[in-house]
Amino acid sequence: MKTLLIVHHSMTGGTAQLAQAALRGAGGEPGVVARLLKAPQAGPDDVLAADGYLFATPENLAAIAGMMKDFFDRCYYPVLGRIEGRPYATVVCAGSDGQNAVRQVERIATGWRLKPVAPALIVITHAQTPERILAPKQIAAADLQQAEELGAALAAGLALGVF
Ligand SMILES: Cc1cc2nc3c(=O)[nH]c(=O)nc-3n(C[C@H](O)[C@H](O)[C@H](O)COP(=O)(O)O)c2cc1C
Repeated sequence: MKTLLIVHHSMTGGTAQLAQAALRGAGGEPGVVARLLKAPQAGPDDVLAADGYLFATPENLAAIAGMMKDFFDRCYYPVLGRIEGRPYATVVCAGSDGQNAVRQVERIATGWRLKPVAPALIVITHAQTPERILAPKQIAAADLQQAEELGAALAAGLALGVF
């Protein structure tokens, strides 16, 4: 059995819906167990026990969410040198941009020597005003479909051992 670890944080629900969709997609793959953890619940043991990763975060203030940063801060050195070559992908939920959050995840993953196996999925919610930014999000079906497909692709690659 291979394990796909999905670590996420979400303030207004968008990233959580995308992470759930990826979990659904991964769940259809025999031979793969997909684990969905909120960032504060995920630690070095979870990272070490997984064969591949999906990191899902909102972009907040042109950065990954603080809770995701905390996850990486807690896990970075305990697992450094012990997960090299494992595959990963990134999902970013953003109001209008998302690029810098992707860059940050990529830099951390490069430090871990993880292998990117899919282009980052950036989902734009078009929330621009404080009211809309703070409102609960409803991610469009087409975007959820993309996240589901990403989860399925990660799981399939793990099951086949092609990464
Ligand atoms: C404090 C804060 C800062 C934000 N900064 C950015 C930003 O720099 N770039 C961007 O595209 N969206 C930004 N947003 C918008 C969120 O990325 C967007 O609302 C996204 O849907 C949040 O994901 P979530 O629903 O999983 O919390 C920000 C939102 C908050 C609350």
